[in-house]
Amino acid sequence: MKRILVTGGAGFIGANFVHYLTEHSDAEITVLDALTYAGNLESLRGIDKSRLRVVIGDITDAPLVDELVAVTDAVVHFAAESHNDNSLFDPRPFLDTNVVGTYTLLEAVRRHGVRFHHISTDEVYGDLELEDPARFTESTPYNPSSPYSSTKAASDMLVRAWVRSFGVRATISNCSNNYGPYQHVEKFIPRQITNILHGARPKLYGAGANVRDWIHVSDHSSAVWEILRRGTLGKTYLIGADGEKSNREVLQAILGLMGQDPDAFDTVTDRPGHDLRYGIDSTVLREELGWSPVHRDLAAGLDQTIAWYRENPWWWEGAKAETEDRYLQQAAAQASMGPGTGGDKA
Ligand code: NAD
Ligand code: DAU
Repeated sequence: MKRILVTGGAGFIGANFVHYLTEHSDAEITVLDALTYAGNLESLRGIDKSRLRVVIGDITDAPLVDELVAVTDAVVHFAAESHNDNSLFDPRPFLDTNVVGTYTLLEAVRRHGVRFHHISTDEVYGDLELEDPARFTESTPYNPSSPYSSTKAASDMLVRAWVRSFGVRATISNCSNNYGPYQHVEKFIPRQITNILHGARPKLYGAGANVRDWIHVSDHSSAVWEILRRGTLGKTYLIGADGEKSNREVLQAILGLMGQDPDAFDTVTDRPGHDLRYGIDSTVLREELGWSPVHRDLAAGLDQTIAWYRENPWWWEGAKAETEDRYLQQAAAQASMGPGTGGDKA
């Protein structure tokens, strides 16, 4: 696998994966990214230019995708519309990118016999009860809740169908919530860190009881690299690092690490359809491929992440105001939609 095409390589996890590849392989990397609001070429700053080619383009552009796939050994497909809140207000781009974009890539890898790894999410499984000891496994039935997660579920199904019907050499991974450097300030952890750095109060949806299963983005990268090299074709792997915490616990850890009062936050109207809890059982990945996470201490990982946002305002300042504006617009739209649809996320 000398030549690797990384879709969405200017986004949060894609860019971290590109950094990981440059440190752990000698692959020549091509990034294909449309540079939506979530893409930032600065996330690739510092990478040896002799190993990296960046193509600004859309994964739904079939001739462009065909041209790039024809000269690659493997595709790792991160590109997506990734934010649940946005999907509740404007689902269409999620269908275009997550469903039609994945279809476009699958047709190209099918034509050229190229290895494909599809990056997906634990959200395809819906949610778990808060006090339930159960966790998601590879055989949990799909039950997505939001426009975002339903389009990711659809894209997983397309990959499975292209494996079965056309013999495409593909694997799928479904990972839990990532945190770390280069994450867009719309997402929970960077939104709260950058609010505090701006002197604004963090925003917790509802009572903050919802649980997410946190994994450091570099552990996601190492898992994907193992699956790409040694995974069983046609198989799905769940990726998780046993990092379940309620949103309130995570926020209060951030507040403590940043020297703030533990109650220095606002609670705002809950996300409609808000999934209660995610929890990943990654036994298959650990036993079959011998993978394990390096970052097991969430407080230490949060501390590093806070330090990164503190030291790199040049990377996130430009997106902060427009992101908070978007939250204000979404809150107004929600409020005007009436009861049961939320209201004051901003
Ligand atoms: P992100 O929103 O930070 O980045 C997405 C990238 O895709 C951006 O660079 C954007 O410009 C690009 N993109 C969007 N539409 C495109 C198009 N039509 N053509 C080409 N490029 C396009 O997302 P992320 O958080 O890095 O997530 C990456 C992948 O990982 C997604 O598939 C997501 O579903 C999955 N995932 C994310 C998490 C998480 O916690 N963030 C967890 C599990 C799985
Ligand atoms: O589980 C994997 C998924 O994790 C990925 O597939 C998605 O791409 C990724 O965005 C993430 O989805 P979530 O919806 O869980 O992430 P988000 O960062 O938006 O929110 C995390 C939790 O924090 C969620 O329960 C909602 C809550 N939240 C979020 C924001 C932005 C708040 O309480 N306040 C906020 O301001």
